Amino acid sequence: MNKKTLENNKTSGLEWVDFIKETKNRSPRQITKNALSWVKNKGQALDIGGGALNDTKSLLENGFKVDVVDIEDITLDISKEIKNNNLEVHIKPIEDYDFSIEKYDIIVANYVLPFINPKKIKSLMNNIFSSLKIDGIFCGIFFGNNDFYKNRSDTVFHTKNQVLNLFKNHEKLYFSEVEKKCLNYRGNLEHCHSFEIIIKKNKPRHRKGSVGLIVNSKNEFLLVNLKSFKDKYFTLAGGGQDNGELLLETAYRELKEELNISREDLEFVGESKKPVVFYFSKPTVRECVEYTGSEKFYFGFKFIGNDNEIKLQEDEIRNYKWVSYENLKDYLLFDNQLEDTYEKIKEIFPNLP
Ligand SMILES: C[S@@+](CC[C@H](N)C(=O)[O-])C[C@H]1O[C@@H](n2cnc3c(N)ncnc32)[C@H](O)[C@@H]1O
Repeated sequence: MNKKTLENNKTSGLEWVDFIKETKNRSPRQITKNALSWVKNKGQALDIGGGALNDTKSLLENGFKVDVVDIEDITLDISKEIKNNNLEVHIKPIEDYDFSIEKYDIIVANYVLPFINPKKIKSLMNNIFSSLKIDGIFCGIFFGNNDFYKNRSDTVFHTKNQVLNLFKNHEKLYFSEVEKKCLNYRGNLEHCHSFEIIIKKNKPRHRKGSVGLIVNSKNEFLLVNLKSFKDKYFTLAGGGQDNGELLLETAYRELKEELNISREDLEFVGESKKPVVFYFSKPTVRECVEYTGSEKFYFGFKFIGNDNEIKLQEDEIRNYKWVSYENLKDYLLFDNQLEDTYEKIKEIFPNLP
């Protein structure tokens, strides 16, 4: 991160240095104390937007090694006064922090995520979840939409559903809406509104998806070349299941989105009983859920439409091709891809080739 970008972050109009000075030597927040009681292993902790390090001190006292990320140099100065080898302070925006996978037993983010640019929050939340260990604990406080600060353009004020949505795939251990008169850090009485949440990271799972095994009147199979692949690598069309969607519906939706093939252009032939399971080289996080691999369910169709109706989804697909059974070996070049496809063809189209 260059100095200029860092300065831009600092000059968002928020008086962090004053806030940090005023809140120095306060007690840790109650939610942090509560969250600590849920942590099994007192190993590694991350305090995002640690400010005056009051929560950090409590994490250190409980035996954690603590990483703190904050944009203000004063946080580093305060850390020097604490003099603890288990504390490491990183002065940078959390959006630029180099998250390690499954490093932390607890991540604390009190009154900081509302200051992240909404365009970046999804990928940040994914990074946060991916860097929590399984059964790791996250605790955070968000500003509610009735807070006295609510007209600030540089802060996000959440509704209850918006906060719950950020954590919808995880086990909620505690959730509380707090709306009351309170003293702000300058000692003025204000109307405060916030949401406090503690969650536990769930075990990762495989992402389910559907694949269309489509054959035309010449007994050729429809393959696509994705823009994310090199030119010579092809695959069957398909994609990941959306929440609440049946897998057959996923197949129809993906074929429409990727190739403009409607269900009227397809005659359903059958489906494979077992998915093809693939393990990712490292876990990936989507919508705050960690996946260690994918399970692809195969559906067979005869194409009864016209080729001239096929239109590629330009962002994702470079090309498509009808390929005979004999020539599949020239296009399905990833590990096991050809063998898996042969097996599914045999199961769904027993009379082919
Ligand atoms: C309202 S204070 C909260 C401090 C502390 N967590 C607490 O609960 O008292 C917000 C803190 O987040 C820091 N901060 C703001 N934007 C940040 C960002 N993009 N990355 C890291 N820290 C940030 C500020 O410097 C400040 O210390």
